Amino acid sequence: MTVSKELSSISQRLQVRHLLKDTRFQTESYGADVVQGLTQTPKTLPPRYFYDDWGSQLFEQICELPEYYVTRTETAILEKYAGEIAQVTGVCEIVELGSGSSTKTRLILDAYQAAGLPLYYLPIDVSAGILESSAKQLLVDYPTLRVQALAGTYEMALSQLGDAVLANRMICFLGSTLGNLNPQECDEFLSQITAALQLGEYFLLGVDLQKPKDILDAAYNDRQGVTAAFNLNMLTHVNRLYGGNFDVSQFTHWAFYNEDEQQIEMHLRSDRPQSIHFDALNLSVNFETDETIRTEISRKFNLEKIQQELKAKGLIPQHVWTDEQSWFGLILCQLQLS
Ligand code: TRP
Repeated sequence: MTVSKELSSISQRLQVRHLLKDTRFQTESYGADVVQGLTQTPKTLPPRYFYDDWGSQLFEQICELPEYYVTRTETAILEKYAGEIAQVTGVCEIVELGSGSSTKTRLILDAYQAAGLPLYYLPIDVSAGILESSAKQLLVDYPTLRVQALAGTYEMALSQLGDAVLANRMICFLGSTLGNLNPQECDEFLSQITAALQLGEYFLLGVDLQKPKDILDAAYNDRQGVTAAFNLNMLTHVNRLYGGNFDVSQFTHWAFYNEDEQQIEMHLRSDRPQSIHFDALNLSVNFETDETIRTEISRKFNLEKIQQELKAKGLIPQHVWTDEQSWFGLILCQLQLS
């Protein structure tokens, strides 16, 4: 095939919808979440500010770190069991929330392809650039694949999915991103999943499980300092967006496992008293020495409890797969009347 023919067939199989530019979704005023987070005690910043282009690249690096077992363990489970997933669902389109670079997606697509099933993929990500470039690469590598990409938040995209084109649909939420939501947000999110699915459709969820504290602490405090750079990059990103003057050298990455809450907490700790100003927000914020901004939580789940929560939403677990050490769980649910 000539290059131009191949390119045109790729564009015929790709549709991208930009929800972030859709004015219907622009309800929140500019930077309101930053103002809110930095004026409350204790201070927080929303995790979405991790992901500018550099932050997304750093996150890809985190996934490769020796201490960060999460991605490797989930990938190994998918390598082993993606074929079973395809057997259970049969013909089924694949929606992926927070698709990023789509590495794990390939394992799922491979399984459907090997089973002779049609390939229809709906990636959802806030980063439109990564969304489009990884979709194009997938279209090159899977000649029969069709992609409908949605650039937007999970909430926007879930409300805009429309009906399935193929006989069935599976929403995938991998990487234990569910653990980055607090219990209330988690509950609301699962309700949105239920609302987005028709009866008989599937939800594939990857969750990081409880394990010894030293393993968890190491995973979020890698020796190369990539997680620290990722955390600190949030300050640079917020500076750029809102005309802030955070000095990254005056803050320190701090991550620890909170055993009572069963969650990793990531903070940025101020090394000295300082005042930060944001030109675009008309906002000044004071820090004391050792005062922190919490940037992320990463909850660690109990496999039985999370299944109960899913069931309560009508998302009935059909299969659960885990690794030999039970470090990570992959749960395939089906929406049924409960
Ligand atoms: N959901 C993953 C986790 O909690 C990925 C992740 C989100 C992450 N934010 C992070 C990993 C910050 C390292 C640091 O592990």
